[in-house]
Amino acid sequence: MTGQSVLQSVLHPAGPQAARIYDLWTLLLWVSVAVWILVMGFLVVALRRSKPSEERGLTRGVGIATGITVFILLGLLLASAVTGRGLARYAFEDPVSIEVIGNQWWWEVHYEEGRPDLAVTTANEIHLPVGRPIVLKTTSHDVIHSFWVPNLAGKIDSIPNHVNTIWFRADKPGTYRGQCAEFCGMQHANMALLVIAEAPAQFDAWLNNQRLAARAPANDVEKRGRDVFRGAPCVLCHSIRGTEAAGHVAPDLTHIGSRQSIAAGTRPNTKGNLGGWITDSQQIKPGNHMPPMNLPSEDMEPLLAYLESLQ
Ligand code: CUA
Repeated sequence: MTGQSVLQSVLHPAGPQAARIYDLWTLLLWVSVAVWILVMGFLVVALRRSKPSEERGLTRGVGIATGITVFILLGLLLASAVTGRGLARYAFEDPVSIEVIGNQWWWEVHYEEGRPDLAVTTANEIHLPVGRPIVLKTTSHDVIHSFWVPNLAGKIDSIPNHVNTIWFRADKPGTYRGQCAEFCGMQHANMALLVIAEAPAQFDAWLNNQRLAARAPANDVEKRGRDVFRGAPCVLCHSIRGTEAAGHVAPDLTHIGSRQSIAAGTRPNTKGNLGGWITDSQQIKPGNHMPPMNLPSEDMEPLLAYLESLQ
C-alpha cells in the first residue's frame, strides 16, 4: 500500500502451488475456447443449410457430439485430480506455522513457535520468508470465511470449530493481497489482508520485533496518548501487550504502527485514516463492531501519536 505495488491475481503465480493452479486454469481456458469455436462453427454451418438434414444423420451427429463432450469433461476431471494430487506432493520441511482466524470482518494471525513466550499475534498482515514452506491453519470465530491469496495458493475455508490446513510457498518477494472468498456478511468485500513475502533475514527481523511487547512512550505526547487509550473503551476489545489492555475480540494493536493497512486492508495506515477510523469507523466500514468514538482533538492527537509509535 505504501510504494510497493500490491498484487492480487491468479495470473501471476508467485510460488509452486499457485503455478500448478495457474496451469490448470490455462488448460481449462484453452479447452473452453476450442469448444466455443467449434460450437459456433457448427452453428454457422447449420444456419446456412437450405434443406433440413435427414433424421438418421441428426441422431448420429448428436451421438458423436455427446461422446466428445463426455470425453472432454472426463479429461478435465482427470486434469483437476492430477493438480490436486500434485499440490499434496511438495516437500514440507522446516515450515513456518501460521494460524489465521476469520472474524467479521478481519483476520487474526498467530505465529506458532511451540513456545508461548515466542508466540506472535497480529492482524490483517502476514509476513513470510521467501523459499520456505508455509503451513497455514485456519478456523473462524463466527461464520464461515474463506482465506484466499490468489498469487500464492487456492482457497481454503475458515470454518467455526474446525481447522483446515493449507500448504504453500512464496518464491518471489512481493506484497500480495488476499481476500475473503466466502460471503460472510455486510463487509465481506472489505475483509482483505496483505501477505508480504520477503528475504529470510528480513522476515526474522520482523518476527523478532513482533515478539516484543509494545514500545514504551518516548515523550510526553505519546505518554498522554497511552493514557487516553487506557481511559477509553478501546481496552475492552483491543490488546496492547505490555499494557493492561488485553481485549481479544478486536485486532491486537501491539505493533499497529508497523502495519501497512487498517480495517483489514480497507485503507492505508496513515494518521488521517486512523483518526477517521477511530472517530467513526461506521462511515468507512458500515456494520463493523467498533463503535464511534468522538474524542476531542487534545485527546485524539496524542492517541494517534501513541498508536503510530507502536512499531
Ligand atoms: Cu469473511 Cu467473506
